[in-house]
Amino acid sequence: MTAIRSVVLGCGSYLPERVLTNAELASRIDTSDDWIVQRTGIRERHIAADDEFTSHLAIKAAQAALTDAGIDAQSIDLIVVATSTPDNTFPATAVAVQHGLGINHGVAFDLQAVCSGFVFALTTADNFLRAGSHKRALVIGAETFSRILDWNDRGTCVLFGDGAGAVVLEAQPGTGTTADRGLLTTHLRSDGRHKSKLFVDGGPGSTKTVGHLRMEGREVFKHAVGMITDVIVDAFNATGFTAEDINWFIPHQANKRIIDASAHKLHIAPQKVVLTVDLHGNTSAASIPLALAVAVKDGRVKKGDLVLFEAMGGGFTWGSVLVRW
Ligand code: UT7
Repeated sequence: MTAIRSVVLGCGSYLPERVLTNAELASRIDTSDDWIVQRTGIRERHIAADDEFTSHLAIKAAQAALTDAGIDAQSIDLIVVATSTPDNTFPATAVAVQHGLGINHGVAFDLQAVCSGFVFALTTADNFLRAGSHKRALVIGAETFSRILDWNDRGTCVLFGDGAGAVVLEAQPGTGTTADRGLLTTHLRSDGRHKSKLFVDGGPGSTKTVGHLRMEGREVFKHAVGMITDVIVDAFNATGFTAEDINWFIPHQANKRIIDASAHKLHIAPQKVVLTVDLHGNTSAASIPLALAVAVKDGRVKKGDLVLFEAMGGGFTWGSVLVRW
């Protein structure tokens, strides 16, 4: 059997220069380094400069991914940007990225699935490539959540950070078996019954304002581990792989306790889990490609490895992607 596979040619990331530590937050609001570390595992996060927009972070991450892949931007014919913090309501941040990269052919669009954005964008690009309509895709997760935080709400403002990560995918012929390189299986879910548990209390069509992030943290936590493990079991069932076969587990980085509990429930060994939540905080759609770039750069993720991504977030949305590197 032959099949088209979306093979990862390279990845890259970008973090704004400014680092905001827990200690600095504790000097401004009623919180402490101890509370934040114990409840979330977060120690610091990066914050974009006032004149640094989501598209600027995305372009830098994309350029790093193109360099890592060793390919010219002109060979890209599809750009999908996962973000919930676009530069403007419209046009899509993706067209600003397309323009910034000097590309004026092909198609560029945004995708909004909050923290699950990157797995939704990977899945979308994979479907374009496997359908044969496009050949090389840039899939980017980019966020400036610092712009939509209520900095007086200690229940949310300590959790999030800014950043961007990107991968380059290329359609390549495969055998159709799980021995192929590339995306092997993708599983997406959403359930709008939970839409008020994690949301932004504004928008162009309702309040005509941008609004601020609001979250019932305990409620999100309660659902997270079950939803995450469900879509990972779907990935295992679709491929016949088990937790033993996985080389690297790169989860959405929202909370170390959620990541630890998910890995434990799935019997994924702690040494296979890539953790960056301590240094990045929750960067929403950017968190997986940011963590991926760290684990590729430091030599952990190698060609042929089985890499498992998962995310869960506002909507609720959740999903998994299993890729052979
Ligand atoms: O990326 C999308 C998915 N999002 C998530 O996965 C987030 C999921 N939720 C969480 O990670 C956790 O629920 C939080 C980290 C947000 C909160 O942890 P928690 O263990 O669920 O704490 P809690 O909300 O039950 O709050 C416990 C206490 C409360 O005080 P009382 O009512 O017990 O007196 C809060 O007011 O901690 C208090 N609190 C804080 N204290 C110090 C809440 N935020 C803070 C803070 N510093 N920043």
